[in-house]
Amino acid sequence: TAPGALAGRHVLVTSGPTHEPIDPVRYIANRSSGKQGHAIAAAAAQAGARVTLVSGPVTLPDPPGVAVVRVETARAMLAAVEAALPADIAVFAAAVADWRPAAETGEKIKKGPGGPPGLALTENPDILATIAQRAAGRPPLVVGFAAETQAVVDNARAKIARKGCDLIVANDVSAATGVMGGDRNTVLLVGRDGSVETWPTLDKDEVARRLVARLAALAGA
Ligand code: C5P
Repeated sequence: TAPGALAGRHVLVTSGPTHEPIDPVRYIANRSSGKQGHAIAAAAAQAGARVTLVSGPVTLPDPPGVAVVRVETARAMLAAVEAALPADIAVFAAAVADWRPAAETGEKIKKGPGGPPGLALTENPDILATIAQRAAGRPPLVVGFAAETQAVVDNARAKIARKGCDLIVANDVSAATGVMGGDRNTVLLVGRDGSVETWPTLDKDEVARRLVARLAALAGA
């Protein structure tokens, strides 16, 4: 990306997992290191953008030159994203938990003779779909991710239509690929028109730089 390609633009990125508390010591979560999302935030900052990174719990350092908002739950992530708008480009790379425990207990649930407790779940807000379908203040360019283990392209096309985003970065996360937690990623870019572009396996930093260059071009920067 040319330095300054995104100067004057605000780029919003979500990254990492969310943690949905069961009780004060337990939670449910998706697997996510945050590496790809953080790399995208860093690459956007390097391209001159003002960057807001809304991150779930990760062990990564804050990328340089990026305003980081740390959250724990999906609901807090949505609130932080809405508070960060308006944005020119929004990239939703977080692995948000689809469900959360319906009732969070304030006290630790004790093991007992009654056996394991039931765990009732309720749906979390879909942050990407909420922002992509906003009537007012929708970022002009909304990018989603799709972690799939099968039928990657078909699922990505369906996801673009369902969520209302402009572009999906799809990756195959079946265990054999080693994407989860690893430093490399193999992605496909699926456009709203159904077009598919396959990228070679690259370091997540390089995926981020190429993606940011593409987004700058799409945003007319
Ligand atoms: O539906 P699925 O979880 O596969 O969609 C993945 C995409 O949607 C990712 O971009 C992810 O960040 C976003 N997402 C979200 N909020 C959710 C679930 C997914 O923003 N509750």
